[in-house]
Amino acid sequence: MTKTQQVLLAQRPTGLPDAGTWNLTTTELPGPKDGEILVKISFISLDPAMRGWLNDVRSYLPPVGIGEVMRALDIATVVESRHPDFAVGDTVSGTFGVTEYAISDGRGVQHVDLNAASGPTWLGALGMPGMTAYFGLLEVGKLQAGDTVVVSAAAGAVGSVAGQIAKAKGATVIGIAGGAEKCRILTEELGFDAAIDYRAGNVLKQLREAAPKGIDVYFDNVGGEILDAALANLRRGARIVLCGAISAYNEQKPPPGPSRYMSLLVFRASMTGFVVFDYADRYPEAGAQLAQWLAEGKLQSREHVVEGGVGGFGEALNMLFSGANTGKLVLAI
Ligand SMILES: NC(=O)c1ccc[n+]([C@@H]2O[C@H](COP(=O)([O-])OP(=O)(O)OC[C@H]3O[C@@H](n4cnc5c(N)ncnc54)[C@H](OP(=O)(O)O)[C@@H]3O)[C@@H](O)[C@H]2O)c1
Repeated sequence: MTKTQQVLLAQRPTGLPDAGTWNLTTTELPGPKDGEILVKISFISLDPAMRGWLNDVRSYLPPVGIGEVMRALDIATVVESRHPDFAVGDTVSGTFGVTEYAISDGRGVQHVDLNAASGPTWLGALGMPGMTAYFGLLEVGKLQAGDTVVVSAAAGAVGSVAGQIAKAKGATVIGIAGGAEKCRILTEELGFDAAIDYRAGNVLKQLREAAPKGIDVYFDNVGGEILDAALANLRRGARIVLCGAISAYNEQKPPPGPSRYMSLLVFRASMTGFVVFDYADRYPEAGAQLAQWLAEGKLQSREHVVEGGVGGFGEALNMLFSGANTGKLVLAI
């Protein structure tokens, strides 16, 4: 038996999750059966999508049930194995949840090479956010060299990689982020051509100044007023990549629709939603390219690691909604 702390969903939140949303418990796990492994978690990925998984609605994944271990992607070490593909000491990634230890049958579990990159990088630029940026920009956004690309939540996990991919592919890249320091990081450290601080107000005016010829690709992570500002400044044939809408995730009423949606007609533009999991069979291709850009220095992986253990999960998750993270937010266990 292995004792483990876990975070369970206690009740569905309305608005921002709070202490009543979560139940920190300690339980005993049995040893792995034939075909199973026991893993010890080292890093838990914190993702805006987790907020959506708490709602009892139809989505691309079923909601987390009340009393279930909160769903999460993790990096872990195999500590016991009765599975032919995994040996004790292997480092792996998988959806083990918000827990210190987990039993798995190996489905969806991948080996991870810590000599190639750190655990947090495997959850960030080389993990799901990196794949999201890659396929969102290149497949959904159909990025071309010379395009003017705008990325929102640009200092975050997906946005920071999307902007750097666009630069590597020869685009002019404008990032939108909250605060002067994040904007400085975008232009001085991550190679963006310009950055807009949406908290300084009038995003539309700032966008028109930064992209006077209009936007070819808008990679949208936030929705809301920033999406409207981008819609008002499109170029003919523009592609809007609907990656996420974090500004609405904790709203208790559906947000108003984008008021400028007629720009799609005027500028013969498109807006396409996507879910990264649909590209799972092409992750190796994206992973190889992202690893090459990392090695060549064309891509920097930024991670924001919070030391808090499983008990720090609820507070760490909410950092995504206040903008307290820069780069990929990860909880160290
Ligand atoms: N479609 C897919 O398959 C897929 C996969 C992964 C992620 N996503 C989406 O991609 C987006 C980014 O995810 P991530 O993991 O990279 O998170 P992240 O960008 O690292 O963190 C979230 C960031 O969103 C910004 N934000 C929070 N509330 C905001 C608001 N009201 N208005 C504007 N910005 C706000 C904050 O930055 P500021 O300080 O700049 O405000 C915060 O740091 C999310 O919408 C997520 O749901 C989609």
